[in-house]
Amino acid sequence: MLTASAPATCAPHLLGLLGRSPVALVDTPLPYPHSGFYAKVEYLSPGGMKARAAVAMLQAARLRGELRPGAPVVESTSGTLGIGLAFAGQALGHPVVLVVDREMERPMRALLTAYGAAVEEVEQPHPVGGWQQARLDRLHEVRARIPGAYWPDQYHNPDNVTGYCTLAEELTGQVEAVDVLVCSVGTGGHSAGLARALRRHWPGMRLVGVDTVGSTIFGQPARPRLMRGLGSSIFPRNVDYAAFDEVHWVGPVEAVDTCRRLARSAFVTGGWSTGAVARVAAWISRMQPGARVVTIFPDGPHRYLDSIFDDAFCATHGLLAPAPGHPIEIPYPNAVEVTRWSRCRTVLDPLRSMAVPA
Ligand SMILES: Cc1ncc(COP(=O)(O)O)c(C=O)c1O
Repeated sequence: MLTASAPATCAPHLLGLLGRSPVALVDTPLPYPHSGFYAKVEYLSPGGMKARAAVAMLQAARLRGELRPGAPVVESTSGTLGIGLAFAGQALGHPVVLVVDREMERPMRALLTAYGAAVEEVEQPHPVGGWQQARLDRLHEVRARIPGAYWPDQYHNPDNVTGYCTLAEELTGQVEAVDVLVCSVGTGGHSAGLARALRRHWPGMRLVGVDTVGSTIFGQPARPRLMRGLGSSIFPRNVDYAAFDEVHWVGPVEAVDTCRRLARSAFVTGGWSTGAVARVAAWISRMQPGARVVTIFPDGPHRYLDSIFDDAFCATHGLLAPAPGHPIEIPYPNAVEVTRWSRCRTVLDPLRSMAVPA
């Protein structure tokens, strides 16, 4: 029987801890020297980047009356939103039930439980939709068992996008300008929210999306993925395809190499998405010296000590091979199946662009 212990009371003062993360100048070679980019270090805000989305989704649902005071919140997560929801649940007084999968890192699972979330684990991936689809299938079973439970549905919830207004406001006070914004894409929430808000200040800002190899978001075939956080095996409706100027697919070898270099010489580092965006931001800074390049580091390194930062794990998965210093260019998103860092300057919504030859 799944139980979620209700927070004793809501603790609205916790909301005052959210945000105000610092911005770091990263100019360490990745792997080549570059002119430097700015990284908003979101793991230094409680709950990490996704706590902003979690709070926004629960607050909006309460206002609409979809989430009753004290009612449980149920969501599927690969981790980061789970921590964010644990934070939002305590701040707003809701028990949290999370559907996770067997691949979730043990420290992350332990942390979710420590923060009072009830965790339900999926044992097998869905034959086509992988872990993500398997979690969603289980989520529907769990919702049926918990009457009155609210499901934020982070992939398709516009409140996930608006949750990043605070991040945009903070950035406008922290950097002089943004010429190029580099964002990882999972649900599409922070890229869409930041692009919308920041282009009001800097209309010419370019948006570069960073996905993982094996993700369908930008029109590639779905494959099993080692990298978590960014990427998806579904088409999230929060992704604002029209906002992107280009997309990069990054592989785990490049992400591992970058996370480790960042840890050794820039101190601020993180997980798969941090490695991926840092690699792309450094490359853009190298190719366009003088451009003010900004990116978001969504979480920190602690969850990845048994994977990205573990030599045995990396050796087993062939991740210690030399990482490419440049992306391969492809003319349109489904021109070839990409297996390493690749770049495309045409961004299309895969559900609306069936006419493009495969
Ligand atoms: C660690 C991490 N990085 C990046 C992302 C992608 O962010 P978004 O969902 O806003 O596209 C996520 C999403 O869950 C994440 O957990």
